[in-house]
Amino acid sequence: MRWEVISANHYVVNDHRKFVNIALIGFMGTGKTSVGRLVADMLRFDFIDTDELIQTGTGRSITDIFNKDGEATFRTLESQTVGELAGRANTVISTGGGLPVNPKNLASLKAHALVVCLWSSPEKIWERVRHQGHRPLLHDKDPQAKIRELLAAREPFYKQADVLLNTELRSVREVAQQVIHQFRLESSGRR
Ligand code: S3P
Repeated sequence: MRWEVISANHYVVNDHRKFVNIALIGFMGTGKTSVGRLVADMLRFDFIDTDELIQTGTGRSITDIFNKDGEATFRTLESQTVGELAGRANTVISTGGGLPVNPKNLASLKAHALVVCLWSSPEKIWERVRHQGHRPLLHDKDPQAKIRELLAAREPFYKQADVLLNTELRSVREVAQQVIHQFRLESSGRR
């Protein structure tokens, strides 16, 4: 599936929601961190990354947690971290690629944030992540097949975002501007 243009899932946006934060979801290598940092800079918001919070909180790397304790432990830490974000405001939250697979995580983010999904094709994702070794799920004998498989399995979860944005043909700046545009549009209608 390819989202060539921005599309907003207005039908899932509940009228009573207040957006005080922006949460970026999406697969590894779709640009969540670089876009998130720029959006935060441009809006003068704080920037946080759920993986970084987990690493700081545990004093361990994500790879170490996966290798020694397993993915399930990492997912529990991830959910706890999301739950702790509820009191935040004026924050751009970049999330780990597998986080929205747990519906409770997405519901928790939607309580305070406009949820924007960044999307890229498996080919583009591979191009971006192939020289980075810090993602345990891609320590696989066929990482390209793994990307395709995970992306297909996660697509229904990613599509529950409020806004879907294809980052493949856009610069980081263009994506950041689109995110801000959507945030302003959605939050101004809700004041
Ligand atoms: C994961 C993505 C990673 C990190 C962990 C698991 C995933 O985050 O949370 O390695 O399940 O897709 P990024 O999407 O920031 O790389």
